[in-house]
Amino acid sequence: MNIGIIGTGHMGGTLGGLWAQKGNKVFFGSRDVRKAAGLIRVIGENIAVGSYAEAVKFGDVILLATPWWATKEALESAGSLHGKILIDCTNPLKKDYSGLTTTPELSGGEEVAQWAPGAKVVKAFNSISFAILKSPNFGQQNAGMFYCGDDAEAKSIVAGLARELGLDPVDCGPLKTAGMLEWLCLLWLQLAFKQDLPNSAFKLLRR
Ligand SMILES: NC(=O)c1ccc[n+]([C@@H]2O[C@H](COP(=O)([O-])OP(=O)(O)OC[C@H]3O[C@@H](n4cnc5c(N)ncnc54)[C@H](OP(=O)(O)O)[C@@H]3O)[C@@H](O)[C@H]2O)c1
Repeated sequence: MNIGIIGTGHMGGTLGGLWAQKGNKVFFGSRDVRKAAGLIRVIGENIAVGSYAEAVKFGDVILLATPWWATKEALESAGSLHGKILIDCTNPLKKDYSGLTTTPELSGGEEVAQWAPGAKVVKAFNSISFAILKSPNFGQQNAGMFYCGDDAEAKSIVAGLARELGLDPVDCGPLKTAGMLEWLCLLWLQLAFKQDLPNSAFKLLRR
């Protein structure tokens, strides 16, 4: 799969690197191509670097991995995402992590869909930490990856990309569920930083 990444921080760098190791072709889009070029030395094969717009042109699947406050501007500089699968792992967090900047009527994921007309937005990977992505197994269990979106084929492709990394994908329904997944991120931050559980992840039990 050809994957474009918007933002080469913790999430973009980690997911892009892991997908490249699995044999996908990954194009890291960055505001600073010289800084991003360092990823080539670290990750090695299957990757290229350039601008956000170049990453979007390259990818069938695009990962949006920017701080919330920079997300609209990043999408504006990335060009048209029409027809692309857009994985939105962002969280519309308040700067002090005390809550979300969004309202119950319009989640971050739905705002992203408005900012990227024609993109098949899948809210995913937003409630799991980048550190757990590198090591998703807890004994016999693997971490869950909760996602939602309105396009069934796009969701199935994103679920496959999660399985490639050893995660257990959980379809949470349409994109209007995105707000719940954004609150799930806040719950994880509470557990990680207030309850001293940084090495933790959510898992759905089913029967
Ligand atoms: N960290 C986690 O464990 C985690 C887990 C789940 C979800 N998330 C969400 O994923 C998103 C990215 O998180 P992250 O931890 O990867 O953040 P990060 O390490 O700060 O990286 C964000 C990247 O976004 C790009 N960017 C574009 N405009 C920016 C600006 N004005 N200021 C700073 N960076 C800018 C930068 O990449 P370039 O310089 O290459 O352009 C930067 O490296 C956030 O919305 C976060 O809530 C994070």
